[in-house]
Amino acid sequence: VNLRNEELNEEIKTLISSLPSDKDSSGKDVSKYQGCWYTHHALQAVLSFQKNFKPQDTDVIVASFPKCGTTWLKALTFALLHRSKYSSLHDHHHHPLLSDNPHVLVPYLEMNLYYYSEKPDLTKYSSSPRLFSTHMPLHALQEGLKDSTCKIVYMCRNVKDTLVSYWHFFCKKQINDEVISSFEDTFESFCRGVSLFGPFWDQVLSYWRGSLEDPNHVLFMKYEEMKAEPREQIKRLADFLGCPFTKEEEESGSMDEIIDLCSLRNLSSLEINKTGKLYNGRDNKTFFRKGEVGDWKNYLTPGMENKIDMIIQEKLQNSGLIL
Ligand code: A3P
Repeated sequence: VNLRNEELNEEIKTLISSLPSDKDSSGKDVSKYQGCWYTHHALQAVLSFQKNFKPQDTDVIVASFPKCGTTWLKALTFALLHRSKYSSLHDHHHHPLLSDNPHVLVPYLEMNLYYYSEKPDLTKYSSSPRLFSTHMPLHALQEGLKDSTCKIVYMCRNVKDTLVSYWHFFCKKQINDEVISSFEDTFESFCRGVSLFGPFWDQVLSYWRGSLEDPNHVLFMKYEEMKAEPREQIKRLADFLGCPFTKEEEESGSMDEIIDLCSLRNLSSLEINKTGKLYNGRDNKTFFRKGEVGDWKNYLTPGMENKIDMIIQEKLQNSGLIL
């Protein structure tokens, strides 16, 4: 487990005192910076990243709102980019995804690397392409990427399933089923836009617009489409990343192997994900729950459904994005 310096630096303390502040439903103090709600330590990390990160044009960034399928997209992106290294049957048994959690293989910029150090040592990620991830909205991420032309893949998900997943992950302690915040309270603060890295719709729109403006550099994916047509979507991802599947690969089943390797069923059955912990002490198994589309129907009342549908409709109108 990594130890973080609990003390925030003076610069960040001064900044925080000038920002809107609130508490998110998991009880954390959050501040709104450049339109996004961050915990204080995440904000400090974002600023360090924006100031110190030296991008390379070959970098690949996996971006998402929390609980939209980040773990899955990390696994898929890693498996796609490194597939030539682990393609033989023998090596397949040594695939890093079988012994490490996807969050270790694809570290967060602000929740891991710059969270623990103002200037983290990135030399161990020197083999190109380097693979990082983030929950920042696009405009905040771009400040750190400067004018680099690296590729950004974004995973989005239906807001209601995201919210239910968010509640399970942040507001319920799975260990003894202690509930930090009721589903109703989490729902209300989510609707106000106060959630970690929220408002949800602002973040989603930042990447949606980015993908329209610059389709060669921002790829917008949806969890539901990934579930419904994994082969088409993984092909899209591989094409975007500049490592398209060859005819031979498609016919030899290498695409299906990757889909299988990265499936919820497979990843959640691995020892590392059943009993392992992350650098921050979190149990790996908490990243794998149901992975279903429409689980929200078990949690939202018709009134809640109506309220959040109205919000999304209003926020996304004229954007061309349908969620
Ligand atoms: P549920 O809570 O709805 O089950 P994130 O990875 O962004 O934290 O998102 C977690 C959500 O993705 C959880 O949704 C989890 O079950 C689901 N998930 C995790 N790994 C997955 C995989 N390999 N395939 C599909 N869904 C996955």
